[in-house]
Amino acid sequence: MTILGISGSLREGSHNSRLLAAAARELPDGVELRVFTGLRDVPPYDQDDDTGDPPAAVARLRRELAEADGLLVATPEYNSSIPGQLKNALDWASRPKDESVLRFLPAAVVSASTGSFGAIWAQMELRKVLGASGARTVEGEVALPHADRQFDAEGRLVDDAMRERLRDLVGRLVDEAVRDRVAA
Ligand code: FNR
Repeated sequence: MTILGISGSLREGSHNSRLLAAAARELPDGVELRVFTGLRDVPPYDQDDDTGDPPAAVARLRRELAEADGLLVATPEYNSSIPGQLKNALDWASRPKDESVLRFLPAAVVSASTGSFGAIWAQMELRKVLGASGARTVEGEVALPHADRQFDAEGRLVDDAMRERLRDLVGRLVDEAVRDRVAA
């Protein structure tokens, strides 16, 4: 079973990318987190280019989503919302509407910020966007505040309670994906 992980941050040293890596450690045996590395290459959404032959980076995004059993997104907060590059990629993934790779896809959302609220507003925005795209976002919130102090030198979360919450959340995501497999 494969979960596709998308970090909404493009920068090296991103706390959200670290949070994704920390989530990978909490996945049950037999479940792999594949991290999407093509976010930077996805061009600005242009409906004129959204044809049967989309830009290569978009085709790759859609293919990796289609191959995944679930989606885990880690989002930064930019001005109380999600970063433009993440919204842009989700817009591409949401089309064509009736055949979108996001439709019915089990999804979970986490966020990290250097501020005190852990990017909770961005998380709410992201849930809204995923919901509008037809993804089934599982309940549960992992919002990591003061992210610059939350990882040790090996990239592990220093707070056991936060790690536990992350494990619960990815467990719920995997349960949802397993239910889909059983129903298929
Ligand atoms: C931020 N940051 C930020 N943080 C927050 O909690 N609420 C906010 O509204 C914003 N707005 C914002 C806008 C822009 C343009 C930047 C660059 C940053 C701070 C942000 O949470 C911090 O830089 C995180 O470390 C970004 O995530 P990554 O890149 O570490 O994953």
